Amino acid sequence: MSGTIDTILSRRSVREFTKEKVSREDIETILNAGRWAPSGLNNQPWKFIVIQNEETMKKMEDCTHYWKIIRSAPLLIAVFLDQENMYNRTKDIQAVGAAIQNMLLACCEMGLGAVWLGEILNNKEKVNLILSCPGSMELMAVLAIGHPLQKSRGSARKELKEICFEEKFAENWR
Ligand SMILES: Cc1cc2nc3c(=O)[nH]c(=O)nc-3n(C[C@H](O)[C@H](O)[C@H](O)COP(=O)(O)O)c2cc1C
Repeated sequence: MSGTIDTILSRRSVREFTKEKVSREDIETILNAGRWAPSGLNNQPWKFIVIQNEETMKKMEDCTHYWKIIRSAPLLIAVFLDQENMYNRTKDIQAVGAAIQNMLLACCEMGLGAVWLGEILNNKEKVNLILSCPGSMELMAVLAIGHPLQKSRGSARKELKEICFEEKFAENWR
């Protein structure tokens, strides 16, 4: 099995972190993984804000029910769709999703923990104010990242036969 498949299968959301900071080199590796995601017409419709400042983190805590995760994390990466750089909303959002997954996988491979925070989108206008975003920036997710507190983490997925079909929807994958 390739290293990539192993990383895909072993990645789990991590929601508790040690106090150790993430090095600038590691942050750059994560950002590079994000920017090398595919995008339609290679338009790269994403923007990333790296957040480590304690005061800013505190303000971000007030934007989500998942504030405990933000309090625990030494690093946030806010991911935006740059609406000035769009060509097709559906495809552009898909591309941003690919960039997010690339960053999560990079974290996993580097031994870092990360979780994709989406609930915070309920307060995306507030986040935009906190981060001084131009009007064209639409928040897509916030990634909370850090060194994982050791804990075994489980997760589950639907079976292939529930979600996959052969040739036509009527024929389940066996
Ligand atoms: C679009 C999206 C939004 C999510 N939002 C949150 C969130 O707000 N808070 C949270 O703790 N996890 C969030 N997650 C993480 C999921 O809960 C997690 O990926 C899922 O339960 C599967 O677990 P696993 O990542 O460990 O395999 C989100 C994931 C996605 C893809």
